[in-house]
Amino acid sequence: MKVGIIGSGIVGRVLATGFLNEAHEVMLGTRNISKEDVVKWKKENTKGLLGSFQETAQFGEVIVLAVSGLVVEDAINLAGKEHFSNKIIIDATNPIAAVPPENGVLKYFTSLDRSLMEDLQKLLPDAKFVKAFNSVGNAVMYKPKFSGTKCLSAAMMTRRNKQLQIFLHHLAGKQKIWAKWKQPEQLNLFVFFGAFLVL
Ligand SMILES: NC(=O)c1ccc[n+]([C@@H]2O[C@H](COP(=O)([O-])OP(=O)(O)OC[C@H]3O[C@@H](n4cnc5c(N)ncnc54)[C@H](OP(=O)(O)O)[C@@H]3O)[C@@H](O)[C@H]2O)c1
Repeated sequence: MKVGIIGSGIVGRVLATGFLNEAHEVMLGTRNISKEDVVKWKKENTKGLLGSFQETAQFGEVIVLAVSGLVVEDAINLAGKEHFSNKIIIDATNPIAAVPPENGVLKYFTSLDRSLMEDLQKLLPDAKFVKAFNSVGNAVMYKPKFSGTKCLSAAMMTRRNKQLQIFLHHLAGKQKIWAKWKQPEQLNLFVFFGAFLVL
């Protein structure tokens, strides 16, 4: 499958490498392909492609959004809204406000009545959104190793399909669910499981 990743920060690069390792074709999208981190990623991932946000959105059969929530609409506009139509969009973004955390708690610019993904779904009504990877740190997004505990935090939501509004959240040693995948390793890039369901 062709995966276009809009965003070249740590999340974009980690997911791009993960999808490449799972034998998908990947383009990492950036506004600056000469950026040090991007050049380094390309050297380490020779099969991976680099492109502008527009080239990446055009390339991807599946598109991952991996930029700050504050600029995700700008990134989509740069990519060209028409390139998202009828595609699965994996939304890894968080609506973190540009203010410092309060008592260690991050501030969101959204509210309980309005999520960022609802706004994005309105912006791209023909896209098939899946919320994934946003609730896990980038260090455990691909092939996570949890010694002594079977704990994987994942959130997948879609506002498009009511039955899938909350698909999966906080898998914590729930044997019935684990049994379905047989091996924890099979949860790698498990997002495709959810993504196929919204097809
Ligand atoms: N860090 C984590 O472990 C983690 C975990 C889960 C979810 N998340 C979420 O994942 C998302 C990405 O986080 P990140 O730390 O990897 O990256 P980030 O630093 O938030 O974003 C980097 C990307 O944003 C693009 N960008 C910056 N300003 C822009 C603008 N004005 N218009 C368009 N694009 C712009 C950059 O473009 P260039 O490529 O051109 O520089 C780059 O591709 C965030 O929403 C974050 O909350 C992070």
